Amino acid sequence: MSTIIETRNVHRVFGLNGMTVEAVRGISLAVQAGEFVAIVGPSGSGKSSLLHMLGAMDRASQGEVLFEGQDLARLGDGQRTDLRASKIGFVFQTFNLMPTLNVYENIEIAMRLGGVPRRERRQRTGDLLAKVGLTQRARHLPRHLSGGERQRVAIARALANRPRLLLADEPTGNLDSRTGTGILELLRAVCSQDGQTVIIVTHDFRAASYADRVLVLRDGRIRGETRLQGDLDTHQVLGQLLELELG
Ligand SMILES: Nc1ncnc2c1ncn2[C@@H]1O[C@H](COP(=O)(O)OP(=O)(O)OP(=O)(O)O)[C@@H](O)[C@H]1O
Ligand SMILES: [Mg+2]
Repeated sequence: MSTIIETRNVHRVFGLNGMTVEAVRGISLAVQAGEFVAIVGPSGSGKSSLLHMLGAMDRASQGEVLFEGQDLARLGDGQRTDLRASKIGFVFQTFNLMPTLNVYENIEIAMRLGGVPRRERRQRTGDLLAKVGLTQRARHLPRHLSGGERQRVAIARALANRPRLLLADEPTGNLDSRTGTGILELLRAVCSQDGQTVIIVTHDFRAASYADRVLVLRDGRIRGETRLQGDLDTHQVLGQLLELELG
């Protein structure tokens, strides 16, 4: 197995109105290609801040983030944009869909940026719409969709270029449990069939139970880590996480 993404003592400090917030305080982690990792932790513990750095969306204040062994701090803005377009898929906590593009176009545009030929774009967009259950919504604008439907468009868009690394911030946050299960199964299939790597941030222990490994964050640090083997039910995962929290 090879490491796809790694951080070494990474920090992120935000300055706002003369105040500083240390959102991430020295995190070192390594994720192997093909792994499914869940990051859990209370609100404000630095989960999104960490995920943005892993996805080359934001730069570390200190420490290193290495993607396939390459230090992201050494890349210029253009190279970071290329990396994001070709190898990383990102599902934002707030979706960030293009409001004037319909569902189909929101997914397809990611492939245009990734240089996928037209015929293949059409094929893949259709497949992705079916996978996330939105074929009937292809011509709708984001504002005419429910929160959960927008979430699924954002996931389809992030998968469009078959990224080596998929990062998703609360991918089931707006979904009912049945749709959420469908999305989690899709993410797990992406790992096991296509060898892609998935890292999700979640509050949801049921979502975490789909991962191979769960990292628990608190106050910008990794507080604990647990490996999940086989199909665990939510109670077992919750039990293991509580042990980490208390232990
Ligand atoms: N752009 C920013 N400017 C200033 N402070 C920020 C910024 N982004 C995050 N923070 C602060 O950093 C801390 C961690 O935020 P972050 O969004 O990473 O938490 P989180 O674990 O994702 O929380 P949630 O579960 O609520 O999404 C918080 O105290 C937040 O207010
Ligand atoms: Mg967050």
